[in-house]
Amino acid sequence: PSVGQVLPEQPELKILRRKIPGFVGFANLPKQWHRKSIRRGFNFNLLVVSQRGFGKSTLINTLFNKDLDSVSGKNSGNNQALTEKLEGVSLEDGEHGENGSNNGIGNDEGSNSETSGLHASVKINAASTTIEENGVNLRLTVIDTPGFGDAIDNTDSWKPIVDEINLRFDQYLDSENRISRTFEEDNRIHACLYFIEPTAHFLKPLDIEFCKQVHEKCNLIPIISKSDILTEEEIVVFKRRIRKQLEEANIQLFQPPQYGFDDEEAIQASHELYDNMPYAVVGSTDVVISKDGRQVRGRSYPWGVIEVDNSKHCDFVYLRDLLISQYLEELRERTSKVLYERYRSEKLSKLGIKQDNSVFREFDPDMRQREEKQLHEAKLAKLESEMKTVFHQKVSEKEKKLQKSEAELFSRHKEMKEKLSKQLKALEEKKRQLESSANAPAPPSPAQPKKKGFLR
Ligand code: GTP
Repeated sequence: PSVGQVLPEQPELKILRRKIPGFVGFANLPKQWHRKSIRRGFNFNLLVVSQRGFGKSTLINTLFNKDLDSVSGKNSGNNQALTEKLEGVSLEDGEHGENGSNNGIGNDEGSNSETSGLHASVKINAASTTIEENGVNLRLTVIDTPGFGDAIDNTDSWKPIVDEINLRFDQYLDSENRISRTFEEDNRIHACLYFIEPTAHFLKPLDIEFCKQVHEKCNLIPIISKSDILTEEEIVVFKRRIRKQLEEANIQLFQPPQYGFDDEEAIQASHELYDNMPYAVVGSTDVVISKDGRQVRGRSYPWGVIEVDNSKHCDFVYLRDLLISQYLEELRERTSKVLYERYRSEKLSKLGIKQDNSVFREFDPDMRQREEKQLHEAKLAKLESEMKTVFHQKVSEKEKKLQKSEAELFSRHKEMKEKLSKQLKALEEKKRQLESSANAPAPPSPAQPKKKGFLR
């Protein structure tokens, strides 16, 4: 219509809100999801990093309540032939060759590949098995790293492990980019259990270096193994020291999410899980008789029994809650949405492909926090440099003023000095004249006036 033209009156719009009678069906979605998940099962890839004899096999068996040694071939030796075959192909500096890049994941018999650096020789050994509990199947892969920290010079011990994490990310990236996408199996590392020696002292440089190298690539969960050899007080102090060392090195541990809970108790439990890290654990699959006659998993000592599943005796329950019963899905999701996305984004931007990071920034409060911190630090640095410039300016102005007044004082001093020396000279001249006139022979005179003063 042209300007000024009167529009015909519009019929009044009515919005009718009707309740749909009967049943739509979407309330069933969780059930559908549940059915699908049960059918598909779950998979979980756990990286375990420990020096020899720290109690790793015992702890993993305790966690999953299954003798996983027979899967990895530790006791049975059933994959010894495979191990030997792959050991023949030793790869320099942690680089994966054909054998290294195919770790046979998903193979119940387990597999391994060797990666040898200049000094440390660390193997990557993956073993899978399926665990069933109340009709739910969990496809568990334990990625073991024998040889870690066992050499005299362990400087590079972490490298083959980081390479393995990257390799698994790369494999996933490849499968994502394939035209016929198949995501049958997710081989990415979902969590890393790092074993700390129960020294009651401090973390060693290797511990810190390893954690630094992996904390942005996988969900890091440190544990103090065989903690029954420490007293309660020692554990408290040791944990505090470890947390301080990790904080100073800016190492991030896996933090159970604080969101998504509607009750205070659950939030509190999540805080407790995080605050208690690193977990001081005890491992044992042996059933012993407790003080009050119960059959428990634990370790028996002349002075009593340590119960593995009792949170008053050790932190094993915290570890099980975090790793399996409460946050297994969260560990998988963070791996996928945060850690892998970050890796992928960095990798693609190195190849010159620009990435939109906003999606995983949404999921990663840590990343947002880090970015805000960086921004804040940049602002502070700018402010500091501006303040420094102003300060330098003021100082140089003041210096100039001081120099000027110093010069003035100096010239006045010089002037006065010259004046005084002139006066002194004049006085000396006068004195000399007087002395010479006093010493001169007096003309004969009959009536000489009597002399006064110092010339007498
Ligand atoms: P490697 O396979 O040689 O690297 O050893 P590992 O780290 O797998 O240790 P493993 O589980 O075989 O345990 C080594 C020894 O430590 C065994 O004698 C275990 O009984 C003992 N052990 C394991 N866990 C604990 C624990 O929590 N406390 C104590 N006191 N001993 C433990």
